[in-house]
Amino acid sequence: MPSELPASALYSSPSLGRLWQKVHLACSPFILRRSVRKLYERPIPILRRHLAGIPYHWIALGCADGQKESLLAGKLPPPASFHAADTNLSLARRAAARLKGTRKSCGRINLNAQLPLFHQPFSQRRLFTLFGVLPNLPPFPLLHRLSQTMRKGDLLLLSANLAPGESSLAGARKVLPQYDNPLTRQWLESAVRGFRPHLSPGRLVFGVFPDPRQKSLARIEARWISGRRVKVVLASRRPTPRQVEAWIQRARLRKIGRFLEPRQEEGIWLVTR
Ligand SMILES: C[S@@+](CC[C@H](N)C(=O)[O-])C[C@H]1O[C@@H](n2cnc3c(N)ncnc32)[C@H](O)[C@@H]1O
Repeated sequence: MPSELPASALYSSPSLGRLWQKVHLACSPFILRRSVRKLYERPIPILRRHLAGIPYHWIALGCADGQKESLLAGKLPPPASFHAADTNLSLARRAAARLKGTRKSCGRINLNAQLPLFHQPFSQRRLFTLFGVLPNLPPFPLLHRLSQTMRKGDLLLLSANLAPGESSLAGARKVLPQYDNPLTRQWLESAVRGFRPHLSPGRLVFGVFPDPRQKSLARIEARWISGRRVKVVLASRRPTPRQVEAWIQRARLRKIGRFLEPRQEEGIWLVTR
């Protein structure tokens, strides 16, 4: 198995954050396709019902600059507090700055390690959002850690980049061409240059591979090839909806709602403890 760069190595400095943002603005289906932006609005009625009449605290995990959260915020009851948490603190600051008129904070977090307790009064509900992170990190362990942090009645709204169709590997091959473009290469090559210990000169190659932890799950990988040495620089998981639901169940979370965009390349789940 080739070794991997940690996902946070692609985002953790301000300059990598800026390069990722360029990729996001030019290539993200959320920016390019109205149906994907609509997808993020579909849980609003059900969320409003669950959040009506009690104070709630919003914890935005891996939120980058909070674009998706701010789309939702205009249509949800105002939270008692909003906390933006990301490995990139300058992005998290921007996310907190975007939200209007509420008690706000931001902080660095490592979603790959044990999660903090987020001390809010027990009588009050928390809404966790986790957009665009599930592809980057081992998904079941992350959901399991989140489930252990959540209290009864807390809500988690998460998004997943999906493989269209019934097979994760076949579906991922269909969306592979979306990944290989000059801006993505610029971002990933900059992460390779900044990585310590130094990687030898090489080239990036994109492909679809089975996830080492779950062979039926496809990962779109960008691999750094130098001579016979191979390092995985980016791994983006593309599960089927059924695989996402199996993780949710195994993590002892309960599904409240599921929303898929028309091409079935992205989905949103609302779950609770
Ligand atoms: C693909 S971006 C998604 C950003 C944003 N939520 C969206 O959907 O547009 C992944 C985000 O996860 C963050 N991230 C990656 N690894 C992380 C880690 N180990 N702990 C915390 N955040 C992480 C990155 O900084 C980045 O903001």
